[in-house]
Amino acid sequence: MSDIPHATTLDDSLALLREGYTYIARRCDRLGADLFATRLMLKPVICMRGAEAARIFYDGDRFTRQGAMPQTTLWLLQDAGSVQQLDGAAHRQRKQMFMGMMTPEALAAMEALLARRWREAVARWEAREEVVLLEASAEVLTRAACDWCGVPLPEDEAPELARELAAMVENAGGVGPGVLLALGLRQRTEARLRRLVERVRAGEAQAPAGSPLAVIVAHREPDGSLLDSTVAAVELINLLRPLLAVNRYITFAALALHEHPDWRDRFAAGDEADLEPFVQELRRFYPFFPLIGGRARENFEWSGHAFAEGDWVLLDLYGTNHDARLWPEPEQFRPERFRNWAGDPHTLIPQGAGDFLGGHRCPGEWITIAILKQAVRLLCREMRFEVPPQDLSVSLARMPAAPASGFVMSRVRGKA
Ligand code: HEM
Repeated sequence: MSDIPHATTLDDSLALLREGYTYIARRCDRLGADLFATRLMLKPVICMRGAEAARIFYDGDRFTRQGAMPQTTLWLLQDAGSVQQLDGAAHRQRKQMFMGMMTPEALAAMEALLARRWREAVARWEAREEVVLLEASAEVLTRAACDWCGVPLPEDEAPELARELAAMVENAGGVGPGVLLALGLRQRTEARLRRLVERVRAGEAQAPAGSPLAVIVAHREPDGSLLDSTVAAVELINLLRPLLAVNRYITFAALALHEHPDWRDRFAAGDEADLEPFVQELRRFYPFFPLIGGRARENFEWSGHAFAEGDWVLLDLYGTNHDARLWPEPEQFRPERFRNWAGDPHTLIPQGAGDFLGGHRCPGEWITIAILKQAVRLLCREMRFEVPPQDLSVSLARMPAAPASGFVMSRVRGKA
């Protein structure tokens, strides 16, 4: 790796923890390069950022996700046997299963389910002094996600499942006791869903026709076999957990509407012309996944560097979304920039880059956008609330990020 700049000759793990989302971009800026070598967790790694780096990382099957993340992160997020851990033809076949769930009708169904669950929640929130949106929206999304997936969820079990799913996201980047607790909770969720899959297959429970549960239960592997019930449970969690995780973007949406009330007024008045640009700017501007890891599957050259099979590489998602060459004045929240956006698949990459089927780009991107549009409508048009004094700062050293207070709302009232 002597042909590219080195960030340090020692280990940079502490710097990554300290600097969080800005770790890679700072070094790229300082070294005047889009890729550099360093050591993290005592292992050599190449970090890269920018649209061209995203293209190299996502297109053409050059990287696998196997062995590319700390083991606890893998267990808490995608998990062994999941689509993300597959490569080549096997990956494409499983990915097709996910993409087939994202029809326009299914996205519209999610919008309707979210509105229903949100309205029910507003009625409960009215009785409370204060509501922390980060937590409250997690519960709403858990209910809507289970409805959408066809997973039965007794009314009183929603808060507990929301906590279990939220713990997976909250602890994915960390180390320590919280991780162990989250892993324990995850096992419980997985066991519950595995039993559900087995009961549906045994004819003891019903999966609503066409629901993601029905699709996963009946999905056939390339060799014609059904998915192992553990893998089926893992893939169900791979829908429920990230659907809940949209609560962070909803919380950021509330923050953006609070800090830019002109946008709130426009959406409140029913002007939706810029609703999609607003949601795209939310996904560009606010921190979510800082980076994504891969291991080279082959030898190749890029940017004057010879990558060797097995090399560990990290792509900077946040830094690419804030790359001033792609996004003028990247630290300004400006939805207008998306008005005539050409939709380049390698520049706006909070949910991965490139092609859905041919690579690991997030299959949940369209449903995330649909949920966010609906959440903005609900926040602006269907409720009133006050924003009491609180710490709304967003630390870029904290992964995953959120406003410090979780966005507290008081005197919540439905408008309908
Ligand atoms: C993959 C982010 C929502 C399901 C990814 C990847 C990213 C990402 C960065 C690429 C991982 C890689 O390159 O290895 C996000 C963010 C979300 C979100 C920030 C907002 C909350 C969703 C939703 C779903 C979902 C709503 C499901 C409904 C998945 C799955 C993969 C994935 C199954 C693996 C895809 C593959 O390996 O081909 N997500 N995601 N995500 N996401 Fe999302």
